Amino acid sequence: MTTTRVLFVCLGNICRSPAAEGVFVHLLGQQGLTDRFVVDSAGTGGWHVGRRADERMRAAATRRGIDLTSRARQIDLGDLHSFDHILTMDNDNLAAVRALSHAAGNPAGQAQIEAMTRYCRRHSGVHEVADPYYGGPQGFEQVLDLLDDACSGLLDALVCKP
Ligand code: 4NP
Repeated sequence: MTTTRVLFVCLGNICRSPAAEGVFVHLLGQQGLTDRFVVDSAGTGGWHVGRRADERMRAAATRRGIDLTSRARQIDLGDLHSFDHILTMDNDNLAAVRALSHAAGNPAGQAQIEAMTRYCRRHSGVHEVADPYYGGPQGFEQVLDLLDDACSGLLDALVCKP
């Protein structure tokens, strides 16, 4: 059985990408697919390395029955090879990960780098998972609504469901 390795990336790795990791892991558990995936998250910045996810993000996820357990870390060159898929939350994250790949000479065999919103089906007109950090509580709910949609679309694409 093959293992698919998925890395979610945002700026700080304390709000959006830990939430994406938690939502995706939750979905894998519901569908009995946990053993087929390795899932992680990282930030393009290193300011919050070692910290748990933002308390507001954890509280919003807990209300939906999702536990956010990750500790923040910064993406590095090794991740381009360790993962099959890298999903970014906004255009800045996408540009930063692409720049990292470019700096490494776009090596063969590296992860496929894509915007997370590509996999939205219900929120098809949305192109970024907006940063909720400086906003109000509604922003955290919107992040989870979008990620719920995108994670479901991503999982179906990765297990080749129509
Ligand atoms: P995230 O949110 O990228 O979704 O983890 C942010 C967290 C912290 C900061 C910015 C965005 N910050 O500037 O510290």
